[in-house]
Amino acid sequence: MKVLGIESSCDETGIAIYDTENGLLAEQLHSQIALHARHGGVVPELASRDHVRKAVPLIQATLKQADLGLKDLDGIAWTAGPGLAGALLVGASLGQSLAWALDVPAVEVHHMEGHLLAPLLGDDPPPFPFLSLLVSGGHSLLVAVRELGDYRILGDTLDDAAGEAFDKTAKLLGLPYPGGKALAELAKKGDPGRFAFPRPMINRPGLDMSFSGLKTFTRVTWEKHRQAASSEAEREQLKADIAAGFQEAVVDTLVRKCQRAIKQSGLKSLVVAGGVSANSALRQRLQTMTQQHGGQVYFPPLAWCTDNGAMIALAGALRLQAGERKTGQAIDIRPRWSLEDLHPPGPV
Ligand code: KG4
Ligand code: ZN
Repeated sequence: MKVLGIESSCDETGIAIYDTENGLLAEQLHSQIALHARHGGVVPELASRDHVRKAVPLIQATLKQADLGLKDLDGIAWTAGPGLAGALLVGASLGQSLAWALDVPAVEVHHMEGHLLAPLLGDDPPPFPFLSLLVSGGHSLLVAVRELGDYRILGDTLDDAAGEAFDKTAKLLGLPYPGGKALAELAKKGDPGRFAFPRPMINRPGLDMSFSGLKTFTRVTWEKHRQAASSEAEREQLKADIAAGFQEAVVDTLVRKCQRAIKQSGLKSLVVAGGVSANSALRQRLQTMTQQHGGQVYFPPLAWCTDNGAMIALAGALRLQAGERKTGQAIDIRPRWSLEDLHPPGPV
């Protein structure tokens, strides 16, 4: 079964074709980074308009790459939520129209389920059940995954998502959007021990997280020390030291929460996904921690950590293969949509 997947929930237009027999056949990705950079963050209206411009040419390019025509597609999947309403509408309208015109089944995909399943695209897919840490620009979730579609949220952030904290902290330090990657690069040159960043929620029981205090700590530290930094080099070092301390605090918090979740759930396999799973410090620390617990950690290949069409085509293909079908022709989106509202695939 060859399924076309469409991702347009935020600032990436991702298109892919996943074949349930032969795996990923082709994928195309357009990032809107250059479009939003001068505004310092994603501008929703600009995002929607760019998805409109890029989605159809990217579908044509993906079909060409796979050497297929529209008639060869057996199903269409798109991200129906969560995400920016206008951006989601572009993928949903296109996906629904294509499914109707081609008379093939359609399925709506939850963006975070796409992230959660992305490690299945790799060479060493994790077996169910597993524990999942989903860390993106909009979410920080610890999820017990019993099987496809059976998700129980064990922990959530009480305020900012981990990626959001990276982005806001980067902005405070004057780094260009998107901040997470830039901050991680800067952190490599810094001393994480120079400032004693707090470890939010570590001493409280449970698996919830909080990251907004770290952003405040960054602002206060930066303002307190920037005047004393007399040269450009000293200022750059100060920024790098703050970036390193911030990153270590986020990573340390996430690792300790994962450790607690492994102990509490008894699940030994940990799947880490979402944009922040590209962070190399987080990868290293989780690798060490899971090894110490006799467990194993799975990351999606780097290209599939951040938003992409392949994870949506995969999630859609698994659901269509199991018999799930979207009924009716309505174009529905769910900008807010909990993972816990999902069910194992099947006819609806
Ligand atoms: O999953 P994603 O591409 O989009 C959402 O669904 O939100 O995640 C984007 C987030 C951004 O906040 C970005 O700053 C963060 O992932 N990110 C990183 C790194 N690469 C991307 N955060 C920390 N370190 C990185 N290397
Ligand atoms: Zn995402």
